[in-house]
Parts: sequence; structure tokens; C-alpha cells
Amino acid sequence: MKTVLITGACINTGVAIVEKFASEGYRVLFTGRSIERVRAAEEAYRAIFPKADIKGYRLDALSEDGSVDENAVKALFCKLDGQNIFVETLVLNAADQGLGAKLFENPLSDFTKVLNTNVVWNFVLSEQAAMRMRERGGGSIIFVNSNTAYRAIPDRVAYVASKGGQLGLMRALSLDLGKYKIRVNAVLPGMIITDRWEKNPEFYANVPSRFTPLGEVATGHDVADAVYYFAACANNTTGAELVVDGGNTIQLYPQIPQK
Ligand SMILES: NC(=O)c1ccc[n+]([C@@H]2O[C@H](COP(=O)([O-])OP(=O)(O)OC[C@H]3O[C@@H](n4cnc5c(N)ncnc54)[C@H](OP(=O)(O)O)[C@@H]3O)[C@@H](O)[C@H]2O)c1
Repeated sequence: MKTVLITGACINTGVAIVEKFASEGYRVLFTGRSIERVRAAEEAYRAIFPKADIKGYRLDALSEDGSVDENAVKALFCKLDGQNIFVETLVLNAADQGLGAKLFENPLSDFTKVLNTNVVWNFVLSEQAAMRMRERGGGSIIFVNSNTAYRAIPDRVAYVASKGGQLGLMRALSLDLGKYKIRVNAVLPGMIITDRWEKNPEFYANVPSRFTPLGEVATGHDVADAVYYFAACANNTTGAELVVDGGNTIQLYPQIPQK
């Protein structure tokens, strides 16, 4: 049985990714920052997939001082080694959205927190996973990136910088790890429907990025399908990007319907 480790999978897009891999027969490991939410998610997944092997772990990218908690990542992988569990597929879904980290207004620590979570922590996870994949003859690492890696959005300077950095990391890893048959790829979603849509319906009703050429934004399931494609159906593909944004990034400006 193949094992996938999915970060940030107690809510939203991460849930859809867990469901996709569980329904395809993978053993699914996932992370979240609060043990209560991890246990609740585990219970919910087991109710939907009673026969699947699904286990959650508490993992925070950051220590209390804001630095990356490298030891926690190493401890998780050592624990899995002890149980003879090999993570063949790593899905880097968790992200600090960097909301509220505005230019001129915030301390530098707000910026580095986002970069540490979205870039440095993902490097640490990739390195630990790749070390084992190298020994086992290969594996797959998938970043859930963003179309903001190419097109900036306002008041999200740290997030946009981190997603651009993540793509550079993806390419560098794909180059260095190819010789070990480790494939590294990225899914670039545009706007995804999440619980934030229910909490703020007026904002999302009018947000320009919802007016895509296809007329729809992505669901978590659209993103999960693209992630699964890289994991299971893209044997000779590495360093690649798959944009899942309804065609948004090919427009010069959104086609907002006239009222
Ligand atoms: N939503 C969108 O419109 C959109 C658009 C383009 C790209 N994306 C990308 O798609 C992915 C999923 O997006 P989403 O909106 O579903 O995410 P989300 O709802 O913001 O959830 C993010 C997850 O990341 C985890 N996380 C945040 N900070 C963390 C930290 N310091 N350490 C460990 N985990 C941390 C959260 O853990 P907890 O559950 O513990 O809080 C949560 O599970 C992200 O990579 C995002 O950048 C999203």
C-alpha cells in the first residue's frame, strides 16, 4: 500500500486531498496544528472511509519564537521509520495565508513567519521525505502552490513572495532529485471555495478573481484531482506546473459581467 503525507489537512482543500487519496486506496497521513482538530478530522475521515488507513499528526511549522521547527519534522519522520512506514508521496498543502501582513504597517516578523512556513518548512519536509525516497528508489513531492506565484494580489506581499519562492524551491528540488527518481511538481490553484466563502459571502460574491473564463472558481476536489495526477499518473513529469484557476491567469483583466 502506498503512503501519502498531506500537510494542513484538517480543513478546506486539505480535506479534499485526503479524501481523494483515501478513495484511491492510499494509506493517508495528515497534519494539523491542533491535536483536537487532528483527532476530530481523523474521526470524520474514518466515518467516510471505514476501511482506509488514515492517521493525523500534530505538526506546527513554527516554534514559539517564529523559527522553523525542524526537530518536529525530523521526529515525525523518525517515528514513521520506527513503524516501517515509508512516505512515497508528500503533498505540501499547508500555508500561512499571510492575511493582514501589510507593507509599512507590520513588523518584519509577520513577513518572516509566512516565508518560514511556506518556503523554509516545506524545504525541511521535502528534505526529510526525499532522504527516504532516495533510499527506496523514488517518490513524489507535490506543492500546492498558487497562481499568485506569477500574478500579485494586493496587501499579500509576504504570501505572494512565498509562493514565488516555493516555485523556485520546486524547480531546484526537481533538478537535484531527478537522479533518484523523485519527481517534484506543483499545482497552482486560483481562488478555491473554502469555509471562508460561507463566513464572508458578500466579499466573495464580488471578488474580481471569481470571474474566470470558465465562469467558475476551483473546488478543493479540482485541486485534489490535479495533485493526484502528479502523484499517480505523471511518471515522466518533474518540475512541472499545473494551473487550476478556470483560466484566470491568461486574462489581461477579469471579465466582470455588466449588471
Ligand atoms: N483558498 C484559496 O483561494 C487558494 C488559492 C490559491 C492557492 N491556495 C493554496 O492552496 C492550499 C490550501 O489552501 P486553503 O485555502 O485550503 O488553506 P487554509 O484553509 O488556509 O488551510 C491552510 C492549512 O495550513 C495549515 N497551516 C497554516 N499555518 C501553519 C503552520 N504555521 N504550521 C503548520 N500548518 C499550518 C493550517 O493548519 P490548521 O488547520 O492547524 O490551522 C491549515 O490546515 C494552500 O497552500 C494555499 O496557499 C489557496
